[in-house]
Amino acid sequence: MRAARIVSLDGPGAIEVSSDVPEPTGEGVVVEVRAAGVSFPEVLQSRGEYQLKPELPFVPGSEVAGVVRSAPTDSDLSEGDRVAAFPMLGGFAEVAIAPTFLTFRLPDALDFAQGAGLILNYHTAYFALKLRGRLVEGEQVLVHGAAGGVGTAALQVARGLGARTIAVVSSDAKEAVAREAGADAVVRSDGPWREQAVEASGGGVDLVLDPVGGERFTDSLRSLREDGRAVVVGFTGGSIPEVRVNRLLLRNTEVIGAGWGAYVLGKPDLIRSIGAAIDGLIESGFVRPIVGARFPLHRVADALELIDGRGATGKVVLEL
Ligand SMILES: NC(=O)c1ccc[n+]([C@@H]2O[C@H](COP(=O)([O-])OP(=O)(O)OC[C@H]3O[C@@H](n4cnc5c(N)ncnc54)[C@H](OP(=O)(O)O)[C@@H]3O)[C@@H](O)[C@H]2O)c1
Repeated sequence: MRAARIVSLDGPGAIEVSSDVPEPTGEGVVVEVRAAGVSFPEVLQSRGEYQLKPELPFVPGSEVAGVVRSAPTDSDLSEGDRVAAFPMLGGFAEVAIAPTFLTFRLPDALDFAQGAGLILNYHTAYFALKLRGRLVEGEQVLVHGAAGGVGTAALQVARGLGARTIAVVSSDAKEAVAREAGADAVVRSDGPWREQAVEASGGGVDLVLDPVGGERFTDSLRSLREDGRAVVVGFTGGSIPEVRVNRLLLRNTEVIGAGWGAYVLGKPDLIRSIGAAIDGLIESGFVRPIVGARFPLHRVADALELIDGRGATGKVVLEL
């Protein structure tokens, strides 16, 4: 089959595409891949900087959308079903195998490219906002990196949960994407975003969702109202912030970690219930993954470099 493989740890440019890669074998749902989602972890994997370090060479790609070729008899899936699936590795290929509990029927409202952007970002957004951040209807949420994959997903999920959203972005183009994702207000990361967010929220937000980290974290804490929560999701900004915990005491606020994979992958029932909640948000029209860039498989390096260079918006997808 055709697949992209990481053959050395020399970064995105060193990934190779070939047409004689053996098809995967093993238990699970066998999916004929139509689209594969590309994300930050694959950029890190190309340099050996991600926590998961498979033996070289390997096919990266944590999530796909496609058509079922075969499924275990105890699943409710059958040949020909459209699905979104999370194989964890092996997605940048014509065929991938995913565990049954990480394979979801793809609603008709979404195409394959949108399906390839559904699991990692939307399950993370729901997990971080609702299960970890305890977001409730009527609250106000500030989303950093709001035009990115996790960011656009968080804007849509937060709205679906009845919250009002304020997006933080770095450019005009990203502001347009955040608005397309439904942001109620947009502020610029290089401007007085904290003051603007406090003003726009009438005194402070209830929740900050932060996939960026770095210098802005202290200002995120300052933008919370009493009882506010800052949910830590990632560090695309490059540095891991440190918190002076007296701030939490003085303002009665919280910092909460949200590591989706580590928490949910051993809990199939929880994953299915998050999937059902996302399905509900698709049905009610709140969730529509925004595909910012599409590449054919042979341009996989360009897809990774777009993310690496801070140029990605929404979900970056390989189409097979
Ligand atoms: N905790 C979890 O369970 C979990 C799950 C999924 C992903 N993640 C993590 O969440 C983070 C975001 O993932 P994503 O897919 O949303 O990434 P993405 O689509 O590339 O978006 C990341 C955003 O970060 C902002 N950013 C700020 N400084 C940056 C820099 N120096 N380089 C690149 N981006 C920078 C950019 O927005 P501006 O240009 O507007 O600032 C960018 O849009 C990653 O670290 C990923 O590993 C965590």
